[in-house]
Amino acid sequence: MSRFKGYVYIYTIGCQMNVYDSEKFFSILHLIGYEKTEILDNADIIICNTCSIREKAQEKAFSFLGTIADKKKKNPKLISIMAGCVAQQEGANVFKRIPKLDIVVGTCALKRIGKHIKAIQLGKRRITDIKEEKEIFETMPDNLNINNKKVSKFVTIMQGCNNFCTYCIVPFVRGREKSRNPENILKEIRNLGSNGVKEVTLLGQNVNSYGKKEGITSFSELLGKISEIDSIKRIRFATSHPRDLSDDLIFAIKNIDKVCNHLHLPVQSGSDKILKKMNRGYTKEIYLEKIEKLRTQCPEIALSSDIIVGFPFEIKHDFNETVELIKQVEFDSIFAFAYSGRPGTKALKFSNQINEQEKKERLNELLKIQDLFTKKKNQALVGKIQSVLVEGKSLRKRNTPEPEKQILPQMTGRTESGKIVHFYGENIKAGDILNIKIKNAYPHSLWGGIC
Ligand code: SAH
Ligand code: SF4
Ligand code: F3S
Repeated sequence: MSRFKGYVYIYTIGCQMNVYDSEKFFSILHLIGYEKTEILDNADIIICNTCSIREKAQEKAFSFLGTIADKKKKNPKLISIMAGCVAQQEGANVFKRIPKLDIVVGTCALKRIGKHIKAIQLGKRRITDIKEEKEIFETMPDNLNINNKKVSKFVTIMQGCNNFCTYCIVPFVRGREKSRNPENILKEIRNLGSNGVKEVTLLGQNVNSYGKKEGITSFSELLGKISEIDSIKRIRFATSHPRDLSDDLIFAIKNIDKVCNHLHLPVQSGSDKILKKMNRGYTKEIYLEKIEKLRTQCPEIALSSDIIVGFPFEIKHDFNETVELIKQVEFDSIFAFAYSGRPGTKALKFSNQINEQEKKERLNELLKIQDLFTKKKNQALVGKIQSVLVEGKSLRKRNTPEPEKQILPQMTGRTESGKIVHFYGENIKAGDILNIKIKNAYPHSLWGGIC
């Protein structure tokens, strides 16, 4: 390993793919002598890995990087970098808003970060690298789990998206869909497994089309191969596009023990009119049929979804159809968002944009209704035994239902369905998988006891 050169602070905004990319950034910088810091003022390099899915996420990045000028006054050698989706979208324009920034690297330029840092140290100013690459960056330094010894890790298996939903910026900032070679994925997961990782979440914008274009292993076959790795005990994945959810995948969830009994299946809207304008490629009926098939094959499956409210042309009737759909399906949880117009997307040019106040009201109404179902689903687990992957000591200090046991360490973990469970446990460590009997349900977590 190289001599210590300094500290890097990485601020990650956005989805799980950005979390994965940030780890890659760190692993590359670690090889050339940098250590991670959680203290911003100690940093010699600051990377902000950005997201442009909604305007709010984008503005979060600009306001964080807006403080760079002040930091550079204190530490003139500080190198500041904007990476990720906003960088890819805006390129050199970013310097207009943040003149003191040093490097803008897009979503394909990650591997060249070391070279760019060196160039800045040699006196170069304002580097922009947003070149799109045909190939996925495969060289994965072997130290992916060195910094944060987590038992659960993300593994990107494909990049980009070809779907062009009319609201979405992802195809513009992540490029066309490309799948990684299965051998490289398996090698990476074996490597994680031998470093203590017990659970992997496979990432792609539409995992169901994994390998299709390349004519390699299908997604279900990939799940089968990963399940043969002994050290890996649980497999998750996101995201499945409802249009492409195949029988094959339903059977994989049912038959491969290690594949968790949970599916994230973003519906976006319950109105056929809106789904069509979004270019989603399915109707409410098709979506509901898939849910029924899933529940017939996997009766205990937990379901979650994404919903956008206030999409252009969404009148109260369309919104009510979305409300009806969430009442009908009874998801375990949803992520709901107010529509945000994004540069370059088709929907930005649609007439009939909905005003912000109306979007906010619809969002709040939807979330309130969903809260009832989330509570109901959590409540239904009381008295049941759940398999829980322990993540570590629980940081939450609150009045627990069993005060007499308070001398014992409070631990936290997740059920197969991804729900957080807190419990008391002695001599328990991260990575253990325990049977926990659920005793209490809260809006966003469960309380239980070891069986
Ligand atoms: N590939 C995934 C979604 C990735 S983006 C899929 O197709 O399901 C994650 C979520 O952000 C989307 O499901 C959508 O609900 C939301 N989203 C995307 N673009 C948005 C926009 N312009 N405004 C509001 N929410 C948006
Ligand atoms: Fe965006 Fe649609 Fe692709 Fe998902 S499938 S990333 S929502 S374009
Ligand atoms: Fe955001 Fe880019 Fe992910 S836009 S949601 S960080 S792919």
